[in-house]
Parts: sequence; structure tokens; C-alpha cells
Amino acid sequence: MRSFRDFLQKAQQSGVAIGHFNISDLVLVKAVFGAARELNVPVLVGLSEGEREFVGTRQIAAFVRSLREEFDFPIFLNADHTHSLAKGIEAAKAGFDSIVFDLSALPIEENVRQTKQAVEAMKAVNPSVLVEGEIGDIGTGSEIHESSPDLSKGLSTPEEAKQFVESTRVDILAPAVGNMHGMLRSMVRGETKKRLDIERIAGIKRAARAFLTLHGGSGTDDEDLRKAIAAGINIVHINTELRVAWRHGLEHGLAKQPDEVVPYKILPSVVDSVKQVVGSRLQLFNGRHVAHGT
Ligand code: G3H
Ligand code: ZN
Repeated sequence: MRSFRDFLQKAQQSGVAIGHFNISDLVLVKAVFGAARELNVPVLVGLSEGEREFVGTRQIAAFVRSLREEFDFPIFLNADHTHSLAKGIEAAKAGFDSIVFDLSALPIEENVRQTKQAVEAMKAVNPSVLVEGEIGDIGTGSEIHESSPDLSKGLSTPEEAKQFVESTRVDILAPAVGNMHGMLRSMVRGETKKRLDIERIAGIKRAARAFLTLHGGSGTDDEDLRKAIAAGINIVHINTELRVAWRHGLEHGLAKQPDEVVPYKILPSVVDSVKQVVGSRLQLFNGRHVAHGT
């Protein structure tokens, strides 16, 4: 099996992006894996520190590895939003393919200093692990928010991006380009969409010359996502849309079988609901026609 770096390079050459989907249980893994296999596209499964705490860091690494090996399929594993070196080392030791080292809440000088050290330390554990650094402010929480934070002051600039990548030697950069973690209620209802600063993405790509990740993908305008990928985004993160679909699928599964207690008879509703969202997003990221946009 070729490495995650190989698949990223191939995606970059082909002008498509790799979909990253957060999971916090095996039902979500089943849905993500099922959608990616149906479309035959590589996929990245991610877990934040909280999600890893719930599922088990070494346990999810073994599970994803077993899928990759048994089905000879490019499913990779990312340690999302890692805030301490100890948690990053733990993920590197467990065999994660990439680690998002996120100190974006710190002043930029401190973010640079600690991220540089972390890149060296995590690559000493596993030289082929890819490390992503984060700059700017895109808010926190893959949840439904009542109001939108003011992110205008935390937007990333090409100069800052270039300096950060050169100083820290991260493989991947996550900039702030109009994106935001989580969704507003109006976004869940499909009435409003997140909009991206495409010019800024293009400028950052030219200056930083690194792989770029777009965080906070849920609820983003489809056309903006296409343009962002054309401007240099290589990975798109989706979490809240999956969480919403997970809950709807569960409610539906319980409502349609009120007396059922067998989990594997109830949970296929959740798999189907999440799989639809993943499939639709993967089609868009991979330049395929999207039958029903989200
Ligand atoms: O790292 C996770 C993501 O950036 C997901 O953001 O919940 O807005 O899709 P989202
Ligand atoms: Zn994120």
C-alpha cells in the first residue's frame, strides 16, 4: 500500500482533495469506509483528543489498519486537533498517518517555537508521519452554534503562512480563510452557507508551497469548496455534518422500530444516514457530479 503522502501528492496533481471525516464510534467508521469504497477514492478518518479518549488511540489505529490491510484500501488515520506534545507522541507511536498539532490559540511566535519542536519529536518516533500546523482563528467546536464568532481578525496571510511553514517544517498547513468550526442552526437547515476567501487561499498556496487543509468544512457552499480545491486545498475536514446525520439516523432507527433492542438492527439507519453525507462530500471533493448536494 502506498503511503498517505503518496495519495496526497496524487490528489494534488489531479486537482482533487482528500476527504477527512471525524469519527467517534465504529458506526461512523463503517459509514465513512463504506462510502469511500463505493466511490473508490482514498479517505482520511480523524479523531480529536476527545474523540480518541472515547474510542481509544491504539484501538482505533488497529481497527483502521485492519480495514486497510484486509481490503487493500487507502483509508488513513489522522490525530486531529492535538494540543500537547504528549498526545502527539502517543498518536505517532500508535501508528497514525498524520497529526494535526494545533497551537493556533497561542501567539504566533510561541506557536512556531513549539510546533517546530513537536515536528522534530514526532518524526523521531515515526519519520513518515505527516505533521500539520495551524495558524489563525477559525473558532472551536464541531457543534451547532447559536451565533457566529467574529473571525475577521484571525484570517491568515500569505506572508505568515510562508514564515510558519519554513520555520516549523510542517508538511501540511491549516490556514484561516473564512472557514469556521461547527454550524449555525440556519446552516443545518440549509438556509445559509459558509463562504471562503478563495483569493486568500491561492495566495497562501503560492507563498507556503505546502499541502493545505481546510478545517470547518461543514455547511460550506459547494461552489466555494470546488474553487478552494482548485486554489490549492488538498484535504477538507467534515465533522458537524456527520454528527447531525448520526443523530437523525439514530432517531429514525429508534422511531421506526420502537420495540427493537438489537443494536445491529437499529444502527444500520445511522450508517445509511452518515454514509449519504460522506458520499455526497467525497463526490464533490473528487470532482464527481453531486446528485444531491448537502
Ligand atoms: O477538524 C475537524 C473539522 O475542522 C470539522 O469542522 O465540524 O465544521 O465540519 P466542522
Ligand atoms: Zn478542525
